[in-house]
Amino acid sequence: MDRKQMESAISGIVRLLGTSLKNRGLYPPSHPLVRTPVEKCHAELSPFFAERAELALTVSDGTLVLEGVPVFHLTSSLELFMARLGSIGVPAVIFERGVTIRDIENFVHFLHETKEQGLPVGIIKERLAHRGVLHIRITAAEEDEDDFTVAREIYGNAVGVVVKALKDVRNGRTPNGADSDHAVREMNGMLSRNRDAMLALTLIKNFDEYTYNHSVNVSILSLAVAESLSLAEQDRVSVGVAGLLHDVGKTQLALDLIRKPGTLTVEEFEEIKKHPEEGHIILGKMTHIQEATRYMVLEHHMRFDLTGYPRPEPGHRVHPNSQVIAVADCYDALTTMRSYQKARTPQQALEIMRKLAGKSLDPDLVQLLERSLGVYPVGTMVRLNTMEVGIVTGNSKEEKGVPNIAVLFDRAGNPLASPVPVDLATEDPFTGKPQRVILGTVNPLLHPPVSLTGVLSMASA
Ligand SMILES: [Fe+2]
Ligand SMILES: [Fe+2]
Repeated sequence: MDRKQMESAISGIVRLLGTSLKNRGLYPPSHPLVRTPVEKCHAELSPFFAERAELALTVSDGTLVLEGVPVFHLTSSLELFMARLGSIGVPAVIFERGVTIRDIENFVHFLHETKEQGLPVGIIKERLAHRGVLHIRITAAEEDEDDFTVAREIYGNAVGVVVKALKDVRNGRTPNGADSDHAVREMNGMLSRNRDAMLALTLIKNFDEYTYNHSVNVSILSLAVAESLSLAEQDRVSVGVAGLLHDVGKTQLALDLIRKPGTLTVEEFEEIKKHPEEGHIILGKMTHIQEATRYMVLEHHMRFDLTGYPRPEPGHRVHPNSQVIAVADCYDALTTMRSYQKARTPQQALEIMRKLAGKSLDPDLVQLLERSLGVYPVGTMVRLNTMEVGIVTGNSKEEKGVPNIAVLFDRAGNPLASPVPVDLATEDPFTGKPQRVILGTVNPLLHPPVSLTGVLSMASA
């Protein structure tokens, strides 16, 4: 099949789908005028799968695109089909080898019955699965693979780098510093592209994997502060790598000591206190590690008032960015549930940190962290004056001075079918006051669990 033949075959297929869809509005599903075009469509699709496993059709700006090239010569039934895809929010349809008449029928049924506009990709996928559509997939258009998905991958990679580094050290090998450098550059890039997507992940706490996630979270939070400090790229990377590897020295301690819940004996604490120096030594053997990074790891438990450990020699000058790691470390530890502590909300954590500012923590950096996370950091669950419960999905559009919210639970506490983005700037026409305001934060544990990344990508789609 050459390109011309392909295009005309595709037009045929799409026209048939459009005809079936149009007739579906007039006749029952079993009527020949609905059923026959589906069967013909199925027959016309099969030759494609002789030489390929799938056939992707994209809708872009109202134009049907076949493998990156727009298909022109549009007819009205073509348009009907694409208009439906466009209004529902389907960016691309992929027919897979093995597609059945039933798949096509169910897909047309889905297009027919769906009245909502601009549905998030996640929801469409879910509905198609429920409808029993097996070999027709929809996907986000390549160019806008949603940022939360990309951020999740980048986060996952970074966790992998930490896991490997710690394992290497435990096995007496020197970890490859280039991996850490690369992971940090990726996170830094994502942070500048979509700060909300990257920061949201720091609120996803995984109790079992504490050490690994904690390391990545400290790296991301440190990078966010480094960005607010307007540090140069290279310096940001040095801060991010220090965050990622700040506790690498703990690999030299006994595992049950690291995991011990509750208070440590004096001797045990003396052991723990060695980890910054151990980390400093390990980083010294690694390639691709900046000198500044080594100092930040050494000094991440030295406090602003120069208490802490290791105890600085008189006249010791602390690296200016070491406190960035300390602040990020403190915030992530406070907001994480541990066997001996409940997780604080971001607000509670920042309140505690404000009290430590000027003593153990650098007051300017505490303020900077607070400013860079926003009053309600992404992922915070909040109650609105309408008694609905929502989640903060973004803080970047600060012009309005209010975060973006998606409502998850109605006023009676029932979960909504999908998150509903609401604009806090919308005013009540009668009173002129905002329709919705945030009353305060909500303990996420009091609500049925929600998948944070799922919600965020749906709400932002
Ligand atoms: Fe530490
Ligand atoms: Fe830590």
